[in-house]
Amino acid sequence: MQKGQRNKGELGRLLDSVGLNKKQLVCPLFVKDHAKEGCKIASMPDVSVVPLEETTTQILELINLGISSIIVFGVPSERDSVGSNASDQNGIVQKTVRKLKMEFGDALNIITDVCLCHYNLSGHCGLLGRQNELIDNDSTVRALCEVAVTHAQAGADVVSPSSMMDGQVSSIRTSLDEHGYDNIKILSVSAKHFSSLYSPFRSLAFSEQIRDYKSLDKSSYQVPYTNRGESVREIENDIREGADMVIVKPAILYLDVISMIKEQLRFPIAAQNVSGEYAMIKSAAANNWINEEEWKVTSICAMKRAGADIIISYFCKDIAAILNC
Ligand code: PBG
Ligand code: ZN
Repeated sequence: MQKGQRNKGELGRLLDSVGLNKKQLVCPLFVKDHAKEGCKIASMPDVSVVPLEETTTQILELINLGISSIIVFGVPSERDSVGSNASDQNGIVQKTVRKLKMEFGDALNIITDVCLCHYNLSGHCGLLGRQNELIDNDSTVRALCEVAVTHAQAGADVVSPSSMMDGQVSSIRTSLDEHGYDNIKILSVSAKHFSSLYSPFRSLAFSEQIRDYKSLDKSSYQVPYTNRGESVREIENDIREGADMVIVKPAILYLDVISMIKEQLRFPIAAQNVSGEYAMIKSAAANNWINEEEWKVTSICAMKRAGADIIISYFCKDIAAILNC
């Protein structure tokens, strides 16, 4: 250790001092049928897509570290034009949730990502309209409702719609209630800002089937990064529609939005520390340009300080390992 660098005990105490605890951490889990051993990409070191059978080992590792919440992203073997795999009772997310609920019960809080971009041929978060160009909001919302209900049937505790369609939260709430799942919570990705920081995620989850995943332009439905008022309006709208908690992503660039929501609306808020934020720290640290330990603690501290109640991050395991409670 270089002079002037803090050790893990000291860094852990800094995280404790902002009020962070392990229960507030959510770890992403990517699952794929028949994922080959070590399904990895260079931009996301230490993150892999795991086969269903390996999820048990992954969860045991998290639980041993004191992490009890995960968000499941499915990587299906096949895509089709309408993403029908997303609402298949035997889809990868549904199978994963059923298995993990049977094995871990209430010891594990399972959040599922509800979107179509992993399952359709375009990689867009919605279904294409007749013209095959624009996203059709209403047919997408109907499909998302089916997805959410199948996740609830499989045993998910929380569903997290991430496609940024209008009205998705109220429609999903109604569908869940109609199917008797009024106890299932909605963690809405309310302010997903248009960003190039999602690329490493897409290379991990999309690249096998969607070749131009890097140039996917989702600007017509994601929030622009220039106008905080619009981010706040998206969030207020989802709260009105019945969201139990809202997500702002990326995290580090949007701390102003997080603190504004926390102070003005006093509503539960989650920061999603996205793949590009992870990749930037990892790659710079790998070159010895920045100190990885210090930087990840600084950035997670900043999210907590801004007011995040929950933090979804690829750094969860590292952070849990140094937190005291
Ligand atoms: C899509 C989705 C994305 C992420 C999570 N869900 C990317 C996108 O909008 O294409 C990104 C998460 C990350 O980068 O870690 N619904
Ligand atoms: Zn999506």
